[in-house]
Parts: sequence; structure tokens; C-alpha cells
Amino acid sequence: MFNFTYYTPTEVVFGKETEKETGRMVKKYGGTKVLIHYGGSSAKKSGLLDRIKASLEEAGIGFCELGGVVPNPHLELVYEGIELCKKEGVDFLLAVGGGSVIDSSKAIAYGLAEPDKDVWELYEHTRTAKACLPVASVLTIAAAGSEMSNSCVITKAADNSKRAYDDDLSRPKFAIMNPELTMTLPDYQTQSGCVDIMMHTMERYFTQGGNMEITDCIAEGLLRTVMKNAQILHKDPTNYEARAEVMWSSSLAHNGLTGCGNDGGDFASHMLEHEMGGMFDVTHGAGLAAVWPSWARYVYKNDLDRFVKYARNVMCVTAEGTDEEIALKGIEAMEEFYHSIDMPINMSELGIHPTEAQIEEMAERCVKATGGSQGSAKVLYKEDMINIYRMAL
Ligand code: NZQ
Ligand code: ZN
Repeated sequence: MFNFTYYTPTEVVFGKETEKETGRMVKKYGGTKVLIHYGGSSAKKSGLLDRIKASLEEAGIGFCELGGVVPNPHLELVYEGIELCKKEGVDFLLAVGGGSVIDSSKAIAYGLAEPDKDVWELYEHTRTAKACLPVASVLTIAAAGSEMSNSCVITKAADNSKRAYDDDLSRPKFAIMNPELTMTLPDYQTQSGCVDIMMHTMERYFTQGGNMEITDCIAEGLLRTVMKNAQILHKDPTNYEARAEVMWSSSLAHNGLTGCGNDGGDFASHMLEHEMGGMFDVTHGAGLAAVWPSWARYVYKNDLDRFVKYARNVMCVTAEGTDEEIALKGIEAMEEFYHSIDMPINMSELGIHPTEAQIEEMAERCVKATGGSQGSAKVLYKEDMINIYRMAL
């Protein structure tokens, strides 16, 4: 078991109609002028934005708004948000949406806290943040886990680079989670979200040594729960209980709980996917589903015990055989699960067909983003990344 720090300062308000608490919560955390940040049209269409404004007005909190955040959120809108917030005297960022809106809000919050510096430097890892304005969210999709995470992923559209910056400074003050708000999601987004939730747990599960029994049990239970409820939602998207199970899982999968006692996680699938997202603008969770089977087949021999444990305890493989055979059956069962919820298991099914030159470029960018190598189950270098992309075609 490795030493660890578990830090989850985000207050969670969970359940039906909890968005009515927004004004009270902003006040509790000291906000006096809020930027309501949101995406395309979903929060407007559902009436959620109006309900949030009413709640802020009731609490006597001023606000301005900025919509237009796209999936794989753009640095360019972050800059616009920073300027708007300076002009309006904003002291609190309220994200109404999913991972993209929350991450855009976190980036604006970093930019506002150090207004003389270019916020993109954080994502290029040429400096670290000294401060960040308070951020909170009203979550509308269960997926990225940004509502409790220390992570923030931004895309510089000008050169297609998608980069992450992790820092506890940006952990949100509170998260309002009403599972009913996710019922308007298209099935593709619901299922991509479920894949992302699972991957946040699996990235921490396929590691080298150190995993605690309690951490493994939580991780395996979470994975089984998400798989079961993803399949329920595939047929019955307005099932409240299933929405609630998945929503709470999204936060637990990425707030650090499923990594306590391990070596910090693998996260190679994530880094490989970020380059696919940057170059082809794919949906994050679907991109992960498309790359994971190839990653797994490439690395499993190097982390055989964990792959066997996963096959037995998560994918419920009961067949007898050698450890290698059981591990491969676990990977196959995962692919069958992805297909059962209409998720891709390779890039062709995802709808992208990178050329050799594009594969080379993605691997090169991945090496740059990771500082040379990535992974715990198996440490991957550029050649490995190229091999996995090729396998995933
Ligand atoms: O823009 P609108 O109209 O709201 O539509 C969104 C968007 O098109 C739609 N949507 C959201 N809630 C909805 C809804 N549609 C109908 N009803 C609702 N209730 O869903 C689409 C996807 O939204 P997005 O916020 O992009 O989804 P997600 O939460 O999956 O976030 C993905 C982003 O988060 C990053 C990803 O890389 C990607 O950029 N990640 C962030 C992490 C973090 N900060 O901790 C960790 C993750 O690994 C991930 O990398
Ligand atoms: Zn993710």
C-alpha cells in the first residue's frame, strides 16, 4: 500500500429539485457576483437556467452569463470569459452543465486569479497556479467527474491541442446533482458518460502493486453498478434510480476515492484519447471505449494479476483456463458490454480513420503532453503509443 492524501472539499447537494438550493449555496461560499457559464442549448431549453437565475435572485446574488461552451471546451472562450468577468466584477464561477462547462469555468477562475499571466501556460506546464477563484456546478451530465475533481481539460482550437492541468486549487466548492436533469441527454451522451466514469476507475485499478482491498472492492462495486445501470438507461432513459446511481458514481470515480493506496494510476488510455479528441473532436467517453481494448491487449501481460482479478470480479468470467486466457476473456467481455450500449470498440466504429501521419502526430503530441512516457500497468513510450493507435484502427 502506498501512502496517500485524500482531499475532497466539495459539498454535494444531491437529489430532486436541488437546483433550487443554488442561491443559498453560492451565498454560503461567499459569492456576491456570479458568472453563470453554460454550453449550447440544453440548459436553456429545459428551463434550468431560468430556475437557477430565480434562485440567485431570491438569495440577492448578482449575475451575468456566458453560454457557448462546446464539448472539448475551447481556450478562446476561456479568454472571453476572463475579460467579461473582469468587466463585471465576478467573484464566483457557476458552471451549469457537464465536464466541458465545469472545466471552462475552472480555467476562467485560474485566469481571473492571476490576471497578468496567460492561463494557457498552466496547460503547457510552464508554471503552476498560485490561486483560483471559487468554482461550483449544477451538473447536467454524469461523466467527467469534474464536479469534484482537481482536473481541468482545455482545447486550444487554434492548433488542436487538448491539455490537462491538475491542481487542488480548482476543486469545486459545491456540486448540485439532480439526477432528473440528466434525463434529457441523448443516449450516446449518457453511454459515453458511463464509459468515462468506468475509465476513471479502471485507470486507477490497472496499476502496479499497492492497491488496497477496500479500494479494490469500492472500484469493482462501482464498475458493476455503472455497467448494470448503463444498460438500464439504454432502454429506459427516464429511470430515476438508474440516473442517480450513475450520477453519484461519476463523482466517486474521479474524486480520488478509487485510487487510495495505489501508485497514482495509469491514465494512458486518457492521454491517448485526449489526442484523438484534440485532432478529431470526438466525444471523450466514446473515444475511450474505442482505444481501451487495444490498450488492454497491448499491456495485459505486464499486469496479469490485475487483469485476471478484473475478469473474475468485474466481468464475472467463470471459465477455467490459464491466467492469460482469463485476462483475454475479461477484455472480450468488456468489448461485448460496450457493444451492448452502442459504444465503439475501435476508431473505425468511432467514425475516425487517422492516417499513418496523423497517428505519428498524435503519438508525438501525447509524448509531449506526458513528458515522455505514460502508464503504470505498462509504461508506454512513443513507439508503444503508435502501436496502440494502429491496433485501434
Ligand atoms: O452544450 P449543451 O447543449 O449543454 O449539450 C451538451 C454537450 O453537447 C450535452 N448535455 C449536457 N447535459 C445535457 C446535455 N444534453 C441534454 N440534456 C442535458 N442534461 O452533452 C454534451 C456533452 O457535454 P460535455 O460537458 O462535453 O460532457 P462531459 O461531462 O462528458 O465532459 C467532457 C469534457 O470533460 C473532459 C473531457 O476531456 C471533455 O473535454 N474531462 C474532464 C475531466 C475533469 N475535469 O476532471 C476528466 C475527464 O477524464 C475528461 O477528460
Ligand atoms: Zn475521462
